[in-house]
Amino acid sequence: MQPLLEIFKASKSYRTPEGGTVTALDDVSLKVSSSEFLTLLGPSGCGKTTMLRTVSGFESLDEGDIAVDGVVITDEPAYRRPVNTVFQTYALFPHLNVGRNVAYSLEVAGTDSKEIARRVGATLELVGLTGLEKRNISQLSGGQQQRVALARALVAKPKLLLLDEPLSALDKNLRQKMQKELKNLQAELGIGFIFVTHDQEEALTMSDRIAVLAHGKIQQLGKPEDLYRHPANLFAANFLGESNLFSVSVSSGFATLADGQTLPCHLATRKATLMIRPEALSLDAGEAGSLTFAGIVRESYYSGKDYTLEIEHPSLGTIQALVRAGGRTIEPGSTITLHAEPGQFHFIPEQA
Ligand SMILES: Nc1ncnc2c1ncn2[C@@H]1O[C@H](COP(=O)(O)OP(=O)(O)OP(=O)(O)O)[C@@H](O)[C@H]1O
Ligand SMILES: [Mg+2]
Repeated sequence: MQPLLEIFKASKSYRTPEGGTVTALDDVSLKVSSSEFLTLLGPSGCGKTTMLRTVSGFESLDEGDIAVDGVVITDEPAYRRPVNTVFQTYALFPHLNVGRNVAYSLEVAGTDSKEIARRVGATLELVGLTGLEKRNISQLSGGQQQRVALARALVAKPKLLLLDEPLSALDKNLRQKMQKELKNLQAELGIGFIFVTHDQEEALTMSDRIAVLAHGKIQQLGKPEDLYRHPANLFAANFLGESNLFSVSVSSGFATLADGQTLPCHLATRKATLMIRPEALSLDAGEAGSLTFAGIVRESYYSGKDYTLEIEHPSLGTIQALVRAGGRTIEPGSTITLHAEPGQFHFIPEQA
């Protein structure tokens, strides 16, 4: 199937005022399908905004190409691309009211005034702002401003909407509400979304697929479940969720941990990392092939349902565990035995 967006071998470097160069995008290729919700997730400075800006046309590529619906738009100016952006800072016009902010791009394009009125009304309804057309931007809450920014980007009916950390200025409750609304809106409109966030939970709950970025490169691209359960490298394992990472040596189809336990492993590398998520550890003895970790509880946090534990293991160091409380009391200083079942193991081969 024809992808909605195709980024092909895109690279972008900046000259810095300090006299050096920064590689913001390093040979990135990515396809986004129409009606897909794709999230760019990565630490500050990894190239997320740069990727959006090269797709929207506010920034040019040094190398590579960008196509929408199979048409190469690498050299098209921003206003001719079927793409719109919701900026992190909203970038609303403070001197225009809500209606005029949303109407602006249509006015510039010379759209008929009746058509503008109809589209602005429909878009404000879509984002739940009907009746606020005459309000000044300064008379709106943060969440309402966010919706105006969204309406302004949607009114031109883009095929692809780029959202650069659109929820980061909102408090937690409003943020969760807007997460649901955005997701529903995307499904309703059936257009592609590329959404940027620092927040891994937000990425996991909202996305069809996530691209984990570091140093201008895609480290891993996949469904949230795949990324969480099978991270491709240590960066992805550390960046997405908590994890226990144990070094293992591999030979003859077996991996050996530092405490001498062995488990089947069919990697070609001699060294690897075994990842076990905290919630994959259990207080109940597992089936054959389980790993067992006995250690001293250093920290214990009770949340009613679960205990979050930090355990000191004599040869493996600190182990994080999230176990069901189930009527138990787990005191710091006590000795505890944890088990992990074979289905919960994931190996990350040592990178060359
Ligand atoms: N105009 C510019 N001139 C020089 N360097 C730049 C410019 N814009 C971005 N950079 C650098 O390029 C790199 C990528 O920046 P980018 O804004 O894409 O990061 P980001 O992933 O969006 O980060 P954040 O999460 O902090 O917004 C950074 O090292 C940044 O300092
Ligand atoms: Mg950014």
